Amino acid sequence: MFLVFVMVIIGFSLLLITLKIYIKLTTGWDRSHTCLVGKTAVVTGPDSGIGFYTTLDLAKRGARVIMACRNREDGEDARAKIIKITGNPNIVVKFYEATSFDSIRAFAKDFNETEERLDILVNNAGMGTKERLKTNDGCNVVMQVNYYSSFLLTHLLIDKLKASAPSRIVNVASILHKIAYLDSDDLDRYPKQFPLSFCVTYGNSKLGVVCFNIELARRLEGTGVTTNALHPGFIFTNIFNEITGLQRIIVAFFASICSKTPLEGAQTSIYLAVSPKVKNISGQYFVDCARENLSKEITRDHYLKKIWENTEKIVRLSPDEKIIYK
Ligand SMILES: NC(=O)c1ccc[n+]([C@@H]2O[C@H](COP(=O)([O-])OP(=O)(O)OC[C@H]3O[C@@H](n4cnc5c(N)ncnc54)[C@H](OP(=O)(O)O)[C@@H]3O)[C@@H](O)[C@H]2O)c1
Repeated sequence: MFLVFVMVIIGFSLLLITLKIYIKLTTGWDRSHTCLVGKTAVVTGPDSGIGFYTTLDLAKRGARVIMACRNREDGEDARAKIIKITGNPNIVVKFYEATSFDSIRAFAKDFNETEERLDILVNNAGMGTKERLKTNDGCNVVMQVNYYSSFLLTHLLIDKLKASAPSRIVNVASILHKIAYLDSDDLDRYPKQFPLSFCVTYGNSKLGVVCFNIELARRLEGTGVTTNALHPGFIFTNIFNEITGLQRIIVAFFASICSKTPLEGAQTSIYLAVSPKVKNISGQYFVDCARENLSKEITRDHYLKKIWENTEKIVRLSPDEKIIYK
């Protein structure tokens, strides 16, 4: 009996070690030497996790980086670290609260009035839980932070991106878009009775990002602005801080086996922001710095258009702010 127990433990440990090695070996790395001196980037949610390492990399390459943060103190701490590591003083913290459309408008207005160009926009800010809360704009908070805010911010900065072309938009999505139930007629709706409703809401928000990315690429054809989406991998960052109890123990257990580091998690964002290999690629979805096909279900024209038009209404775009087909 004891021998069987020992064999099971050894077998299980070997399985975990193999899985860990597999994840390390398959992690995609950006190997480009692109210099960004003279270029400007905006990164949302840059003070921790994937966003921090994305910002750090862009700063190392010499870019001016505008860090769009909701917490000024955390933003300033991250900025100080980045300047210390890179020696690049051209890093700025600006207030950006993704739960408020007014805040996004204020951020974009200030950016458009004070910055000359925009070469890279990384829509990275995101949250996971609290799926039942509503924002002051009347939206599901997870949908607003993860999807509607990126949609609105991109619209408000698109003229600068076009004027600085070739320029790039990077949208941080998630593999969980595959478990979504996004109703194109009622984007905020999710099946409340579902035991993992927070996963579904999160998946819905990320499916919104994936669909937005495809439709945006179509509308930007010929402008010199590309847009791509990605799944960064599983990284045990602050995004899991609100998960408590048994759920947290389970997540922490899996994280100890198959989580990437935030630096590894940032690689596909960096690759899409700077690699010459993707300079002419747009509307695609990447994992580990490699393109992946999306399901036919979500790439149906009328589904994408419906989601786009309903999002335009939710974020209350004026007619002249809309991105229309050329
Ligand atoms: N970690 C993963 O396994 C994983 C997997 C797939 C996709 N992703 C995506 O990767 C992106 C980065 O997440 P992460 O894992 O690096 O988590 P993280 O460390 O928690 O970073 C999230 C960033 O978003 C910011 N943010 C959250 N709510 C915001 C709001 N209302 N307004 C403005 N900024 C807000 C956070 O600011 P504060 O620091 O002030 O909270 C933080 O800077 C997210 O879009 C996430 O959905 C992560």
